[in-house]
Amino acid sequence: ARTVSRNEDGVLTIGGLTATALAEEFGTPAYFLDEADFRARCRAWAEAFGKDADVFYAGKAFLSRAVVRWLKEEGLNLDVCSGGELITALDAGMPADRIAFHGNNKSVAEIHQAVEAGVGRIVLDSFQEIARVAHIAQSLGKRQKVQIRVTVGVEAHTHEFIATAHEDQKFGLALAGGQAAEAVRRALKLDGLELIGIHSHIGSQIFDTSGFEVAAHRVIGLLKQIRDEHGVELPEIDLGGGLGIAYTSDDDPREPYEIAKALTEIVHRECEAAGLSMPRISVEPGRAIVGPTAFTLYEVGTIKPLEGLRTYVSVDGGMSDNIRTALYDAEYTVALVSRTSDAEPMLSRVVGKHCESGDIVVKDAFLPADLAPGDLLAVPATGAYCRSMASNYNHALRPPVVAVRDGEARVIVRRETEEDLLRLDVG
Ligand code: LLP
Repeated sequence: ARTVSRNEDGVLTIGGLTATALAEEFGTPAYFLDEADFRARCRAWAEAFGKDADVFYAGKAFLSRAVVRWLKEEGLNLDVCSGGELITALDAGMPADRIAFHGNNKSVAEIHQAVEAGVGRIVLDSFQEIARVAHIAQSLGKRQKVQIRVTVGVEAHTHEFIATAHEDQKFGLALAGGQAAEAVRRALKLDGLELIGIHSHIGSQIFDTSGFEVAAHRVIGLLKQIRDEHGVELPEIDLGGGLGIAYTSDDDPREPYEIAKALTEIVHRECEAAGLSMPRISVEPGRAIVGPTAFTLYEVGTIKPLEGLRTYVSVDGGMSDNIRTALYDAEYTVALVSRTSDAEPMLSRVVGKHCESGDIVVKDAFLPADLAPGDLLAVPATGAYCRSMASNYNHALRPPVVAVRDGEARVIVRRETEEDLLRLDVG
């Protein structure tokens, strides 16, 4: 369903519209998102897991009202991790029972808001939170469905900041040492809670399914222990998100059906061996759904060749619209998309306009030597964790997100304006 290609003049087109026309209409920098591709990815995930499983899109990757409506129409559920994401979901009409609420430090107000709205599940992340959610649910006269997030002790081979299943980090309750089992004991005793399952998320931008398989194996070990100790079989397991996407040609992502197959098989096998009935599986992909669907369009400004080193190509955005290169050493590619060029390739670094040397968008790239101010560059695969982590550093105005479909472009998140900036400054 990808509708991105080049026309006969070498100009990038998306959904039938050229990059040059889009830049003219919406300005730069801007994110352009291929709605058909987004919807197709939702369907691929839903179909891969089938009717005995649930797919929760991880809203942290990118969330807006339009996205919520697409998810709703494509039959996906939604994972939120803050009051802000929750109100966006509810406001756009996502039924509360299709929402899962996450976070290692949900505030009392957020828990209250979630329980009152009737979210389908709250994923409990600490002993204190078990007591807190039970108390709030009871005070509202409700029994809240919950899962317990466990730390399975898998080293996911990804950047340290986005790996989450090793033990020395802030999320979840460790299986090792019995914390997770103790959490289950406590949750089962509390009237305000209905414990429906165990949750594990091992990290993000992962290519190898074996980490998920080990996690599934360990989670099922806990289900068995719970059955033996309490005589209850928890009906659900959630194996989190984290499936990697291709940012460069070195990356080799798995397809949703591969992960669905691997997970379903191992859960099935292990449950059979343990004499457990098959639980309902859920997963929470964020990046794998939205990441590949969007690119950022920039206009080239200053070009500075450094003799014997490389050429610094400055664009009209930077770390305020894509912090991932600076934060995780993330790799991206970039291409000249407003014309073709036969000029020699020149070693370039695409940098932003912010006041620090770490403000790099693409560290190493070859761009044509005749690159000139006013040319348009596209950086693909910026749909996940770029707009959602965008900042106003240096009082930058955060770029819009434009959804393109069947030759029509529609702003779904508008560009910030100077008035937006000044409105918050009330001093
Ligand atoms: N479920 C839970 C509980 C999570 O914490 C996350 C991501 C996901 C699902 C979705 O993971 P995904 O499928 O998108 O990999 N800002 C970082 C990524 C942080 C991920 C945080 N949690 C980045 O730009 O790479």
